[in-house]
Amino acid sequence: MSAPFVTPSAAAPPVALITGASQRLGAATAILLHQQGYNIVIHYRHSAIEAQTLTDTLNQTRENSCTCLHADLNKPSDIQQLCQQSVQHWQRLDLLINNASSFFPTAIGETSTEHWDDLFASNCKAPFFLSQELAPTLAKHQGNIVNMIDIHASAPLKNHTVYCMAKSALQMMTRSLAKELAPNIRVNGVAPGAILWPKPEAEVTAEEKNNILSGIPLERLGTLEDIAKTIIFLATSPYITGQIIAVDGGRSI
Ligand SMILES: NC(=O)c1ccc[n+]([C@@H]2O[C@H](COP(=O)([O-])OP(=O)(O)OC[C@H]3O[C@@H](n4cnc5c(N)ncnc54)[C@H](OP(=O)(O)O)[C@@H]3O)[C@@H](O)[C@H]2O)c1
Repeated sequence: MSAPFVTPSAAAPPVALITGASQRLGAATAILLHQQGYNIVIHYRHSAIEAQTLTDTLNQTRENSCTCLHADLNKPSDIQQLCQQSVQHWQRLDLLINNASSFFPTAIGETSTEHWDDLFASNCKAPFFLSQELAPTLAKHQGNIVNMIDIHASAPLKNHTVYCMAKSALQMMTRSLAKELAPNIRVNGVAPGAILWPKPEAEVTAEEKNNILSGIPLERLGTLEDIAKTIIFLATSPYITGQIIAVDGGRSI
């Protein structure tokens, strides 16, 4: 018999905080975790309407099973408030998914310190301080952290040096915190390859599509579910820590 995703020992449902979860990969992960019995804290910055809509949808399926919280992860005071409110809501936290991310090019000669600060804040600094602040609560229920990294943390993406550096730091943080926070908290990462087209599909030319697909042995983009299922696999595998799984159709081989 296959094991259930959610540990049945706890009377209250486990709780997951997912940053940047109002849409795309974060929302898909929230929906799948919710189906597995988790209560969900959806964090958002600008996408208040999408966050509220997703929250309402999940609450219609199961009453009082989802809430959404605003925070600008570039602001340390917002990070602290997000942690406090997340824990207060159901008085526990079992899973932190560091998913929120800024992503834009930083060509050499055109990159400012503001660009640097923005890319490092969401992709690296906030995941560290969220993890540090939430560690005591996560440890109470043998919780875990999943960091959303990128295959470009290891193989640079042209014109995206600062983003790649920030994800690379997040990659090291994943392995380092796995050591620091053991044995009570596991820390793992998922490194997506090409999952969504970099802009709305209608704007992607046939040539751009061919360029992307020609580098993927499995000859297709990944799906939101491919990523969400891997996050859940890591979140529910009690003997895995410090690992980063590339979900990229073989692109990084
Ligand atoms: N999509 C892909 O193909 C792909 C490939 C490789 C890696 N990844 C990684 O997988 C994760 C999810 O990807 P995605 O494409 O779904 O992400 P995304 O849509 O680009 O970003 C997710 C959310 O991050 C939030 N965010 C960005 N900066 C923030 C800040 N300073 N403070 C608070 N929130 C902030 C935004 O929330 P609001 O909209 O509420 O402002 C945004 O909706 C990311 O970590 C990404 O790097 C994705």
